[in-house]
Amino acid sequence: MSINRVLSVAPMMDWTDRHCRYLHRLISSQTLLYTEMVTAPALIHGDADRLLAFNVAEHPVALQIGGSDPDQLATATRMGCDAGYDEVNINIGCPSDRVQSGRFGACLMQEPELVADCVSAMMDASTGAEITVKCRIGVDDQDPHQVLPKFIETVSARGIKSFAVHARKAWLQGLSPKQNRDVPPLDYDLVHQIKRDRPDLEIVINGGLQTFDAARKEIDAGLDGAMIGRVAYHNPMEILAHADALFGVDSPVKTPEQVIRGMFPYIQNHLDHGGRVNQITRHMLGLFAGQVGARIWKRTLSDQAHVAGAGVEVLETALNATLELQRRALAD
Ligand SMILES: Cc1cc2nc3c(=O)[nH]c(=O)nc-3n(C[C@H](O)[C@H](O)[C@H](O)COP(=O)(O)O)c2cc1C
Repeated sequence: MSINRVLSVAPMMDWTDRHCRYLHRLISSQTLLYTEMVTAPALIHGDADRLLAFNVAEHPVALQIGGSDPDQLATATRMGCDAGYDEVNINIGCPSDRVQSGRFGACLMQEPELVADCVSAMMDASTGAEITVKCRIGVDDQDPHQVLPKFIETVSARGIKSFAVHARKAWLQGLSPKQNRDVPPLDYDLVHQIKRDRPDLEIVINGGLQTFDAARKEIDAGLDGAMIGRVAYHNPMEILAHADALFGVDSPVKTPEQVIRGMFPYIQNHLDHGGRVNQITRHMLGLFAGQVGARIWKRTLSDQAHVAGAGVEVLETALNATLELQRRALAD
């Protein structure tokens, strides 16, 4: 299957778990969804079944892995293929200390040849999933205008056709991972330059896109796709409600209420298997972002969903309170 990456939700640790992805899939049937990063050693030595579990409704879904050992990455890729992922993406962008000590993530921007060996091993191991790369434009004192084209050239020479570029550098010392998502300046022009120089490659832009229209603007200006992280999580309706149109698919645009009710059977099934409601509702807090009632929706869920034994009725209560506020606001 060839994947359309015109819009994707970025991999985000602790956020884009399978419950979050199911929610996003209900809002957009087409947007490509990425898992949280899982390291190759964690997959190989850990509870792979749990780490790889996803719902078939999530397709198209991409597994993001981290590592710098070609053999381990090959094994992890094979495991991802066996689990049914449509794409396996390697993380060359994450700057956290934990990641650097394992010599993977953003620090690999300094070792394009090693990355090339890694992706070669992954491509050889893949039994169907497309192999892609998510990277930064450079790290520390590197000059992105020199480093990024060279990195893309070296890695694409091994057959990689699709890159998602977080359009800012990462500082490996002195900035927290959170600061590394905001402080280094964005350079969208460089990402566009890469696309102009390498029209044969699929170039997806990431970083700082705040609205659906901002994403569409980058695509209209020549890029192959936009990958959105934080705003897709905090305000999923803004980014995803109209997203299917970008794929040329005419889906009915859902309301938050329809999305919430659509989640009920999934949540009930999770509860029936011993799960807790707040494991899912924590990803749903932004469904009314920017609308009247956003606060009461969030507050009711936050207050009630963690109580032992809480079930779907918590969502019903929060929804009724929110819709009532919206009705009153309309009548005013
Ligand atoms: C909570 C959180 C966790 C993240 N985890 C990952 C990750 O596991 N892998 C990765 O490549 N990037 C990760 N990122 C970075 C995002 O994928 C994305 O590159 C970044 O947030 C910039 O995009 P945005 O401005 O649209 O949020 C994470 C970001 C956040 C906010």
